[in-house]
Amino acid sequence: MRIVSGIQPTGNLHLGNYLGAIRNWVRMQDEVTAQGGQSLYFLADLHALSMPHVPADLAASTREMVAALVACGIDPERSILFNQAQVPAHAELQWLLNGTARMGWLNRMTQFKDKSGKNREGASIALFTYPVLQAADVLLYQATHVPVGEDQKQHLELARDIAQKFNNDFASDLQPVFTLPEPIIPPEAARIMSLRDGSAKMSKSDPSDMSRINLTDDTDTIMAKVRKAKTDPEPLPETAEGLTGRPEAANLVGIYAAMSGRSVAEILCEFGGQGFGAFKPALGELLVSSLAPINARFVELRADRGALDAILHAGAAKARALAAPTLEAAYAALGLVRG
Ligand code: TYM
Repeated sequence: MRIVSGIQPTGNLHLGNYLGAIRNWVRMQDEVTAQGGQSLYFLADLHALSMPHVPADLAASTREMVAALVACGIDPERSILFNQAQVPAHAELQWLLNGTARMGWLNRMTQFKDKSGKNREGASIALFTYPVLQAADVLLYQATHVPVGEDQKQHLELARDIAQKFNNDFASDLQPVFTLPEPIIPPEAARIMSLRDGSAKMSKSDPSDMSRINLTDDTDTIMAKVRKAKTDPEPLPETAEGLTGRPEAANLVGIYAAMSGRSVAEILCEFGGQGFGAFKPALGELLVSSLAPINARFVELRADRGALDAILHAGAAKARALAAPTLEAAYAALGLVRG
């Protein structure tokens, strides 16, 4: 088993990232290292170039994200933690895969449509070819499993399509160049929604900070965000079916369930029939008590820039070594002469 996943180091780590992905990264790190496998987690700083960005902010948030991931439980002694920019093989393999990826496949990617919006002509080429770099990220390491939230599923299907076509076109069945990776999506927190709009996902790029809980928010901020979260006037239902057509209520109950490790049915057994006036403070307190230890570790780790750089430096050296054989195999399969 080899686990690989990434996160863009833009903005703060929020509850959607944590419940949808990072918590699974930590669980899988523990499982896979116990079985003698490997886990690799990286900061997708090259992906951050697909949108307008401020260079000094990117450098600062890359280091902050390392601190946040370690605070959440990623252990750099057991997982390989690094940033793409220190492992040139990611960008190299992307170019090699550009020959295999099809325009039609990329044209179907919903993230490109969402992020380019009405300004398709003004979008960067990087935003369009983003999923090919993402395919390179996982194929480079022969990843078997990729823990992500629901929004990354389409990108991983594309990675599988690229791997399959490359293997068919350039490798023998007996010796494929790439492994086809499986996405691992947590059913209970596949898609955490905005606190302001139950039909939009919680996201770093939402202009309203009230739409998300950041792992760095203090107690008062978390309580205020939950108190002001959009809801409807009905009391909570007794059963999960009663949440149908109530996206904001479903989201808050879902967050409670995912954070407490209990089922939605159990939560509704406790809170069904009560209004949000009772439920919201309980949710706020659960979030505060769960996130406080992470926040405290984050604040401590963030202060030591030297230690954060050392983690990335050491992780990148290990990642470069693991990536080298697959990159060479891809060059050779394509008939490119090296050395
Ligand atoms: P990013 O940085 O947007 O998000 C990091 C992880 O958090 C998950 N996530 C969510 N899960 C549930 N509910 C939400 N509201 C929510 N918001 C974010 C994402 O699904 C993701 O797992 N393209 C990727 C980064 C990437 C990557 C990769 C991931 C680059 N290369 C290779 C996996 C494998 C991204 O922008 O994720």
